[in-house]
Amino acid sequence: MGKQKTSITNCLGLWPLLVALALLLASCACPEPEPTNAADFKVVVIGKSVHPYWSNIEAGVQAAAKDLGLHADQAVFFVPPTEDVTKQIETMETYIAQGVTGIAVAPSDPSALEPVMRKAADAGIVVTTLDTPPVDDSVSLVYIGTDNYAAGKVAGEKMVQLLPAGGTVGIGRGSDTALNALQRTEGFLDAVAGTGVETLEPFNDKEDAAQALELANSVLSANPNLTGAFGVYAYNGPAWATAIKEADRVDQTKLVCFDATTDIINGIKEGVIDATVAQREFDMGYKSVQLIYLISTQGQAAAFEKMSVVNGIIDTGVDVITQVNLKEYQVQLNAKGIPHKWSTEDWEPEQDEIEQWN
Ligand code: BGC
Repeated sequence: MGKQKTSITNCLGLWPLLVALALLLASCACPEPEPTNAADFKVVVIGKSVHPYWSNIEAGVQAAAKDLGLHADQAVFFVPPTEDVTKQIETMETYIAQGVTGIAVAPSDPSALEPVMRKAADAGIVVTTLDTPPVDDSVSLVYIGTDNYAAGKVAGEKMVQLLPAGGTVGIGRGSDTALNALQRTEGFLDAVAGTGVETLEPFNDKEDAAQALELANSVLSANPNLTGAFGVYAYNGPAWATAIKEADRVDQTKLVCFDATTDIINGIKEGVIDATVAQREFDMGYKSVQLIYLISTQGQAAAFEKMSVVNGIIDTGVDVITQVNLKEYQVQLNAKGIPHKWSTEDWEPEQDEIEQWN
């Protein structure tokens, strides 16, 4: 304690100098963008692959643009057909050359994207990330998305509940570089460690749904005792579900996955998917546009305060869905005005699914 007191007292004489230095450093580290005239504002959101999950993000982008009174061409959304780092970099280059106001990107490979993100930031463009985090010390001002490690852990805990006697679980994911895939896998593995639930080496389909299905089929046929499957990305759950149904193993293979697109909800209703960790991707798209707009019109400090940025993160949260709470989840989506194309009308949870979770 005494030591701390002395060093603070010693610093007091240097106070004005320290303040000046801090101000100088702050201004070098992150230049405040010039206030943007709304008519000049343009934001670009770059996703990872063509999929209904990304369509929900696009819907969020468009909803924010509408609420902010922007024209459709002031909020651009782009995704490559499958995982494609080169295409993401090229797209960034195109919009840097146009001098847009801000770019929100989901980096399929955070190390490969960082140099072009830095180029954008150096050019005065507001750079943020969504859905999958950037490297440590990135120029990305804010990451907007799921806490992927925690969410992967929840998925692992659900699997442990489903397999009280242990078993072997296959893992399908769409990237070996995107941090969301890596962190979810890590969380899942930590949750099952020491429980008797073993895992196979994850397979990588590079966000190609056809590949995901082929790989799920071959893992199932090579492992006749597979008791569980974990789908890390949005199309992995449906790929496992199709493979499990085709192999006639719905009762033997428990399935836990991520996201809540229509095919996943149908899998829950049918009883082939046991649980899913639904991300709030509409919010990721919406908040990316909103944050960049606020930063460019009101400055970073005001924007961060309004949007509750904590340590460079806006955690959008998740909902864990099973047959037991599916109806309730739909009520919540309706209350928030989040569009979805499925319904639980004329559907009731099955008794054995209810028992499974009690
Ligand atoms: C992931 C995205 C991925 C999508 C693909 C989601 O779970 O968060 O990064 O692009 O699945 O289907």
